[in-house]
Amino acid sequence: MDLATSYLGLTLKHPLIASSSPLTGEIDNLRRLEDAGAAAIVLPSIFEEQIEHEAAEFERLADARTDSFPEALSYFPPSAAFAFGPDRYLELIRRARGALEIPVIASLNGSTSAGWTDYARLIQEAGASALELNSFFVPVDVGLDGRAVEQRHLDVLRAVKGVVTLPIAVKLSPHFSAVGDLVRRLDQAGANGFVLFNRFYQPDIDLLTMRLSRNLDLSTPAEIRLPLLWIGVLAGQVRGALAAATGVESAEQAVKYLLVGAEVVMTTSALLRHGIGHMRTLLADLTEWLDARGVAAIGDIRGKMSRERLGDPPAFERGNYISILHGWKGGLHGWKGRA
Ligand SMILES: Cc1cc2nc3c(=O)[nH]c(=O)nc-3n(C[C@H](O)[C@H](O)[C@H](O)COP(=O)(O)O)c2cc1C
Repeated sequence: MDLATSYLGLTLKHPLIASSSPLTGEIDNLRRLEDAGAAAIVLPSIFEEQIEHEAAEFERLADARTDSFPEALSYFPPSAAFAFGPDRYLELIRRARGALEIPVIASLNGSTSAGWTDYARLIQEAGASALELNSFFVPVDVGLDGRAVEQRHLDVLRAVKGVVTLPIAVKLSPHFSAVGDLVRRLDQAGANGFVLFNRFYQPDIDLLTMRLSRNLDLSTPAEIRLPLLWIGVLAGQVRGALAAATGVESAEQAVKYLLVGAEVVMTTSALLRHGIGHMRTLLADLTEWLDARGVAAIGDIRGKMSRERLGDPPAFERGNYISILHGWKGGLHGWKGRA
């Protein structure tokens, strides 16, 4: 069976990728993920703040030196500021590329297009196969309007594209009033792929300590529905590749994502929950599912159930919601007793 998949111009053995998390930040884990069959891995994100912090620290050191040795001014040209950037991240890319045969996708988190984008060039030089822009950003400033938030995403993409030739995927949150329009504009601005969706870390309150708790819940398969909807709507509408990135616990969710049109399917929570070897199970079960149905190539099922191909567009829209309510035998009264 032909599971080969193309994503961001990379040829992958199959569509299963380990998404960005601390798990992918250790070279031993990366080797084990490759052994377990991962088709590619996404490294943890490096954050704009980390890059800026290190750049500021470098400036401070450079200033101290230039104070004592005026001739050193030319020794540290301004563009060299990032040569001291978060070296460990660049080293991780180099080591991962040296140790693995599968593609290594780096991940940058930035919400402004300030000077830190030069760091993307260093990521490229370190040998990353592609770059994911993790646009995790919560617009807590209530004066910031929706268009301005969207513009940030476009600005960051354009700034990064201005310094690298690497293929770039944008990892988005689902919290936009018109996800489809934003994806379309990012597509026009040259994004090579879209990772749908990121999960925001939302605070909770620990009532014992009366403090905000920041623990992170792992996802569940029930969470695939929102990305399933948007991938199904966007398949065939954009040039960029679609990566499904939430709630993949078993091959069942992966199959559903492929059916609506995902090029690749990513997983983190399931790997954290069951261990790296779970990647092997996912791949075996996906292969078995396809085999049992006589599917010769993964391309034969991809997008079969997208909005474009279904021939039943309301299935993805409000019309479907209304027909579900009409068709529900208990009627709306059924909810009253549970209130
Ligand atoms: C502990 C943890 C750390 C994560 N760190 C990152 C990160 O650095 N960058 C990123 O883009 N996503 C990060 N994510 C999000 C995952 O890559 C993934 O998009 C999200 O968990 C949804 O996928 P899942 O349902 O398979 O867990 C992290 C997730 C977890 C659980």
